[in-house]
Amino acid sequence: MSYSTAIVVGASSGIGENLVCQLAESGCKVAAVARRKELLDALVAEFPGKVLAYPHDVTNFDEVPKLFAKITQELGGLDLIIYAAGVMPAVAETEFNFEKDREMVDVNVLGAIAWLNQAATRFENTQSGTIVGIGSVAGDRGRQGQPVYNTTKAALATYMEALRNRLAKKGVKVVTIKPGPTETPMTANLKGKMMKADTAAKLILEKSNKTGEHYLKPVHWLIFLIIRNIPSPVFRKLKV
Ligand SMILES: NC(=O)c1ccc[n+]([C@@H]2O[C@H](COP(=O)([O-])OP(=O)(O)OC[C@H]3O[C@@H](n4cnc5c(N)ncnc54)[C@H](OP(=O)(O)O)[C@@H]3O)[C@@H](O)[C@H]2O)c1
Repeated sequence: MSYSTAIVVGASSGIGENLVCQLAESGCKVAAVARRKELLDALVAEFPGKVLAYPHDVTNFDEVPKLFAKITQELGGLDLIIYAAGVMPAVAETEFNFEKDREMVDVNVLGAIAWLNQAATRFENTQSGTIVGIGSVAGDRGRQGQPVYNTTKAALATYMEALRNRLAKKGVKVVTIKPGPTETPMTANLKGKMMKADTAAKLILEKSNKTGEHYLKPVHWLIFLIIRNIPSPVFRKLKV
C-alpha cells in the first residue's frame, strides 16, 4: 500500500482518525473531513503539511461537488478516498424513531453516495484510483436490535458492489470493508471483545490493495457466510 494523496471522510475519531494518522505516517497527504473542527485541527497539528482539515457535515449534500473539487486541487491529485463517516444511535428494542433512522440513512448512505459519486466520476476519467467504503458485518442480516443501521450498511454494500462492477474495466479499485465490533467512540457503551481501532485501520489499508469485499477477521468470512444463509424463521429465534 502506497498512496500519495487521500481523502478520509469521517476523519475526526475512531477508525477514520486512525486511518488519517497511518496514511500521514506513511508519507501520504491526507484531507481530513468531518464536523468537529477542533479534532481535525489536532490532526493537522500532529502532522503539519501532511494533514489538511476540511470541516463539513456530510448531510449538506449540495456542498460536496465544490468541496471535492477544492480538496483535489489543494491535494494536487487523488489516489484514494475512504468513506468512514457513520452514526449508530442507541435504539431500544421497542423503539421506532424516524429522526434517528433518517440521520443514519443520511450519514451512512446518502453522504457516502454524494462523496463516492464524485470520486467515481474522477477515477473513471483518470482510469486509476481506489474507493473504500466502511460497511459492517451488521449489514449482512436484518437484526431485531438495529433495523435501520443494518439497512444502511446493506445499502452501502450494494452501492459499492455496483460501483465496483461499473469501474472494474476502468482500472479503479472499489473496496468494501466489513469490520466487526471495534473499540471506538461509537461502541463506547457496548460490551464484549472488540478489535482496536488502530488494528482495524491497519487492516483496512492493507485490504485496500484488492478490489472486492473484505471482512477484517479471516474467520468472519466463514461465520458470516453461514449467518447469511440461515433461513429467516430460524434466524429470528437466534441471537447471532
Ligand atoms: N466501531 C465499530 O464497531 C464498527 C463496526 C463496523 C463498522 N463501523 C463503521 O465504521 C465507521 C467509523 O465508525 P467508528 O466506529 O470509527 O465511529 P466514530 O468514532 O463515532 O466515528 C464516526 C465518524 O463519522 C463522522 N460523522 C458522523 N456524522 C457525520 C456528519 N454528519 N458529517 C460528517 N462526519 C460525520 C464523525 O465525525 P464528526 O462527529 O466530527 O462529524 C466521526 O469522524 C462507521 O461507518 C461505522 O458505521 C464501526
